[in-house]
Amino acid sequence: MTIMNPHLKFQSQAVAKPYFVFALMLFVGQILFGLIMGLQYVVGDFLFPLIPFNVARMVHTNLLIVWLLFGFMGAAYYLVPEEADRELHSPKLAIILFWVFAAAGVLTILGYLLVPYAGLAAMTGNELLPTMGREFLEQPTITKIGIVVVALGFLYNIGMTLLKGRKTTISMVMMTGLIGLAVFFLFSFYNPENLARDKYYWWFVVHLWVEGVWELIMGSMLAFVLIKITGVDREVIEKWLYVIIAMALITGILGTGHHFFWIGAPEVWLWVGSIFSAMEPVPFFAMVLFAFNMVSRRRREHPNRAASLWAMGTTVTAFLGAGVWGFLHTLAPVNYYTHGSQLTAAHGHLAFYGAYAMIVMTMISYAMPRLRGLGEAPDARAQTVEIWGFWLMTLSMVAITLFLTAAGVVQVWLQRMPADGAALSFMSTVDQLAVFFWLRLVAGVFFLIGLVCYLYSFRQRGRVPVAVAAAAA
Ligand code: HEM
Ligand code: HEM
Ligand SMILES: [Fe+2]
Repeated sequence: MTIMNPHLKFQSQAVAKPYFVFALMLFVGQILFGLIMGLQYVVGDFLFPLIPFNVARMVHTNLLIVWLLFGFMGAAYYLVPEEADRELHSPKLAIILFWVFAAAGVLTILGYLLVPYAGLAAMTGNELLPTMGREFLEQPTITKIGIVVVALGFLYNIGMTLLKGRKTTISMVMMTGLIGLAVFFLFSFYNPENLARDKYYWWFVVHLWVEGVWELIMGSMLAFVLIKITGVDREVIEKWLYVIIAMALITGILGTGHHFFWIGAPEVWLWVGSIFSAMEPVPFFAMVLFAFNMVSRRRREHPNRAASLWAMGTTVTAFLGAGVWGFLHTLAPVNYYTHGSQLTAAHGHLAFYGAYAMIVMTMISYAMPRLRGLGEAPDARAQTVEIWGFWLMTLSMVAITLFLTAAGVVQVWLQRMPADGAALSFMSTVDQLAVFFWLRLVAGVFFLIGLVCYLYSFRQRGRVPVAVAAAAA
């Protein structure tokens, strides 16, 4: 007899749990490689030739993308059955795909670490369909094909659940975002020889993900958690969600132009990119208003304080990282000086963490206590530890952002502003920035401590095992 979990509306929601657990394991890996690189920035030979910087960077960013994808899938497997008001179409398929994706992910990371990249390309037949070698999309072509297969199976499973069940705005927005995610990934298979064209398509993946369809996924997860923890009417929440996603798409699609300034594209992009991307902070700001408004209008005190904190925190941090730090360098006359500087890294870190790492943790914070059979919320001690994790990670990431911003400003000052001939070389500039890179490393260590705290919060004493609770019921 299978054990019932009384805290789940539908038992098939349980497939979300391995996705969440594995996502957090990869998150730990991501941070370890971030720290390795942070050290290599100041001690150049650290771990050379065992783990060169370019390999650590690839592992760091790929683990990020993959753990977020696991997080999104887990979130969808939890959210869609509840919204559709029926069991998941096929829990078995969800578990099979979990193992396929996990195995492909682990093998790919091992490939990066154990084989020189060119060797990996040769081993995996990259010359048949060359797709490797572009930032974030370094995966061997066979891994990319694997990702597409997993995505198709996933969309089929979620889609069938939706088709047969209740169709809510939240689940339709999430589905649209997930389909967009899969469709834009297909541009990673097109790798034109011409570098300018190559850049266009590369940004169709990277930009249209984070400043387009992923915002839909974020918005729907946020709306779902807000309904649950505030008890505010669905109609109100849905109106907000419509406005947010409309603004995200209106500004984000043409906003892609802010990456076409210097790649050899027509000059009109200087204007289109600047104007539309300058409006991209608006949907992020709307999410802040949304979360705080709903929480202040709440109809009930939800016992899971940590989940409300994550829900509000993700909107504020995303607005700062994507909205404010994005705006800082998005106008062409500014970007002319800041392009590809440490300022870009400052923005990339706070935006990815604030929007996507934190929304996944919001969902995990809400769903995990139920998935683990604990009830609506973990005990008070576990929540306190989780809240410590929240603040340590978030404030450390803000500190990382501030140090990188300072480094970026000095870098622009020394390397980009002076007239030709008077500018410092790239490497001499980096030497001048060492103090900021040390400080970034220290903040990174605190981030890891925060992550450990967060993971430790899952160790709850005195929990009632699901089986016992079910027997008692
Ligand atoms: C959550 C949403 C966002 C995420 C995760 C994100 C992430 C990133 C990352 C990782 C990069 C570096 C890409 C590379 O390797 O070259 C980047 C570049 C950039 N982002 Fe964002 N971003 C977001 C939203 C925004 C917004 C809303 C704006 C504008 C208001 C913006 C403006 C820019 C600009 C101008 C660049 C190019 C920087 C350069 O020229 O070096 N981003 N973003
Ligand atoms: C211990 C904390 C971390 C440290 C020390 C760290 C360090 C680094 C370093 C050194 C790079 C390479 C920059 C370069 O190429 O010059 C990098 C890239 C990157 N990291 Fe981290 N990282 C950390 C945490 C994170 C987190 C939590 C996220 C997101 C949730 C993240 C997202 C990224 C992204 C998106 C890039 C590519 C940035 C770009 O292209 O501009 N990192 N990180
Ligand atoms: Fe962008």
